[in-house]
Amino acid sequence: MTSRAAGITLAALQAGLKPRLEAVHRELRRVIESDFGLIAEVNGHLLQMQGKMFRPTLLLLAEEASGARDERAESLAAVIELIHLATLVHDDSVDHSVLRRGMPTINALFSHQVSVIMGDYLYSRAVVELTRLGDLEPLRVISRVTNEMTVGEMRQLMALEPLAFSEAEYDLLIRAKTASLLSGACEVGALRAGPAERHALRHFGEYLGMAFQIVDDLLDYTEEEAVTGKPSGNDLREHKVTLPLIYALDRLTPAARREVQALMATAEPSDQLIARVVALVGEAGGLDYARNRAQGLAEQADQALDALPASAARDTLRDSITYVLDRRR
Ligand code: IPE
Ligand code: IPE
Ligand code: MG
Ligand code: MG
Repeated sequence: MTSRAAGITLAALQAGLKPRLEAVHRELRRVIESDFGLIAEVNGHLLQMQGKMFRPTLLLLAEEASGARDERAESLAAVIELIHLATLVHDDSVDHSVLRRGMPTINALFSHQVSVIMGDYLYSRAVVELTRLGDLEPLRVISRVTNEMTVGEMRQLMALEPLAFSEAEYDLLIRAKTASLLSGACEVGALRAGPAERHALRHFGEYLGMAFQIVDDLLDYTEEEAVTGKPSGNDLREHKVTLPLIYALDRLTPAARREVQALMATAEPSDQLIARVVALVGEAGGLDYARNRAQGLAEQADQALDALPASAARDTLRDSITYVLDRRR
């Protein structure tokens, strides 16, 4: 693997993109604007919640690295972020999560009904914007990945039966619910480039996206809510089985396994019970295993970039791999 500098921050990745990301923000604001009172109110809340803008960052870097400029890139990046935002609004309702980006979720602040309708509003605004651009190609990529994401979220519901959920199924799940959109962002950035660049960036995004979700699942085990801006331990609280637990389950003592089963059988497990299972999973090597898998996928993402011509943007895409592995929120 190409040696990579340690400690790449998000700010470093985005340093060369500042005016472009500001344009993406303006586009996002324009596309979701509504004069309908409740929608405008929810929009106001969503616009205050500052996300990382990682997918637009990838799209813009992919565009630069592909060697073919696309004057629509900022609008397309806004559409990608909008699809992401819509899935988060729905996801928080499905996951009964009360905190996102350090702020109350739409379901917590308004209601589950509002979340369902707002998610649909945001999705449909994205489609309206894509049709305004009048090119079938981005619509084709984005509608495909949006559809994959819904199948991924549905697969998520199957991940509630710990003894029946395998690592292979987990891989299918994270590819669909998360990697598809990161891959789509990279591919859409390369629509004006040749098939080789487009192919390389699509695969890069897929490997990076799988690593991104494994790290997200690790952070749910290891990181404080004050750092992530999301409730810590929420996956176990929701009885969601992710890679650390999948690996650990086969290696637990019968007594430890009974503790996991007790958590899964408790409708609202206590923080103490969650902390106990987190510790058991760690002792069984589940966290180390998941980290290794994320590193392996990072390596594959790195190799996918070899197919692109050398450029500053390609270097920054390589840095984004390090960022994904090291990030804490
Ligand atoms: C959260 O994505 C959803 C996952 C796919 C894990 P991000 O971690 O990119 O969330 P924001 O946009 O920065 O809040
Ligand atoms: C990712 O899964 C959600 C989507 C891809 C919509 P999670 O449920 O783990 O995401 P967070 O942790 O809520 O951000
Ligand atoms: Mg969630
Ligand atoms: Mg998560």
